[in-house]
Amino acid sequence: MKTLFKNIKQLVQIRTMDDSFVTGKEMGTLPCLNDAFLLLEGEKILDFGPMVACPKGAFDTIIDATGRLVLPSWCDSHTHLVFAGDREGEFVDKIKGLSYEEIARRGGGILNSAKVLEQTSEEQLFNQSKLRLEEVIGMGTGAIEIKSGYGLSLDNELKMLRVIRRLKETQSIPIRSTFLCAHAIPAAYKNNPKSFVDQVVETWIPAVAKSHLADYIDVFCEKGYFTPEDTERILTAGQQYSLTPKIHVNQFHAIGGVEVGVRHAALSVDHLEILHAEDIEALRGSKTMPVALPGCSYFLGIPYTPARSLLEAGLPLALASDYNPGSTPSGNMNFVVATACIKMKMTPEEAINAATINGAYAMGLADKVGSITKGKLANLILTKPVSSYVSLPYSFSTDKIERVYLKGRQVKKCTEE
Ligand code: NIG
Ligand code: FE
Repeated sequence: MKTLFKNIKQLVQIRTMDDSFVTGKEMGTLPCLNDAFLLLEGEKILDFGPMVACPKGAFDTIIDATGRLVLPSWCDSHTHLVFAGDREGEFVDKIKGLSYEEIARRGGGILNSAKVLEQTSEEQLFNQSKLRLEEVIGMGTGAIEIKSGYGLSLDNELKMLRVIRRLKETQSIPIRSTFLCAHAIPAAYKNNPKSFVDQVVETWIPAVAKSHLADYIDVFCEKGYFTPEDTERILTAGQQYSLTPKIHVNQFHAIGGVEVGVRHAALSVDHLEILHAEDIEALRGSKTMPVALPGCSYFLGIPYTPARSLLEAGLPLALASDYNPGSTPSGNMNFVVATACIKMKMTPEEAINAATINGAYAMGLADKVGSITKGKLANLILTKPVSSYVSLPYSFSTDKIERVYLKGRQVKKCTEE
C-alpha cells in the first residue's frame, strides 16, 4: 500500500534516525523542505524529497497538498488522560478564589478524582478515556504517554493500568504507560505518610512490575505530597524492576526533585514552573529531558516554566499537555505550542521541536515518531492552506489542521461527524 503526498508547500521537521533530540541553540532550527513529496509504504515513511525528484508510477492514494504543510504529529509525553468524571465544581471554586493547593487541603483535588474513579467500572473508565484519546488524535496528537495515579489503592491503580493497556491494544496511536504510584497521600495515611511509601515500595511496585502493565514510574515530588527522600526510595525500588522514572517536580516549589530524578537517570523531569540555578546545574550533561506543561500554568495561573533559561543553558526542552481533570482539562497540543510561543517566548521553531522530536524522546519513542524520517511511522499532520508553520501558533486556538494520519491512514478529526 503506497501513499504519495505531492506538491507539499513545506515538509516540516525532516531528520535522520541519528537525531534523537535537540538542545539549546539547535532548537531554533527546524529543518524543512519546500515544494516536496512524501512517499509512504504501509505504516511508515519510505521516502521524501523535492518535487523535481517525485517518483512516478502507480500509487494506492495520491494527495495533492498544494498550499499545505506536512508535519510529524504532536508527541504528547505527559498526560493523565485516563480519569473518571470531571472537576468542574472545583473549577468554579478556583474562579471564586481558592487555589489548587487550598482545594487539595480540603480533600478535593486528586483525592476527589480518586473517589470518582473508585466508583467507575473499568468498562466505563475505558469508554470515557477512549473518547478523550480520539479527541486528541483528532487535534493532531500522534503519540502519547498516559499515567495512572488516581487509583490510590493497588487495585484501582491496576484498573487504570489495564485501561491504558486496552487503549494500547485497540488504538493505532503509540502509547507509553506510566505507573504514577505516588500522586497523593490517601486520606487513611494522612498522619503516617511514611507507611504509605513503605506500602508502595514493598507491595505496589513489585506487583505492578510483575503485571508488566507499566513502562515508566512517576512520583509527585512536592510540598504536601512526596518529599525528595520519598522520591528517592520509590525510584530506587522502581529501578530494581527496570521501571525508568518520569517524574513530577518543581510545580509549586523547588525542593530538590530535579537532582533526585537526574541521579536516577529519569527519562524526563516534568513541570519545572519553579526552577532554581541548582536545578539547571543538575540537568547539565544529563540525558534527562526537561518537560514544560504550559496548559497547566495557563489553567492554574501559576508561573510558566522558564524556557529561555533552560535553552540558554544549552539544555533541551519538550512540551506536553498534562491533560488531567484538575490542573489541565485539555489535551490540545496546538494550544500548548501556541502558549509556549506566546507566554514562554519560545520561537515557533523551538516550540515545534519541543512538541515533536523532543516529546518523542521524553517517552522513549524517538526511533518511531517525532520527525519526518525514513523508517519512522507515518503519523502526520496535513495543514489547511497556510503561509508558513508560524501560522499554527500565531492563529492560536484556530484550527489550522485539515487532516491527520496515523500509521499512514487518515483518521477522523475531532470536528468531523
Ligand atoms: O500534573 N501535579 C500533579 N498531578 C497533575 C494534576 C493532578 C490533578 O489535579 O488531578 C498535574 O498537574
Ligand atoms: Fe501531570
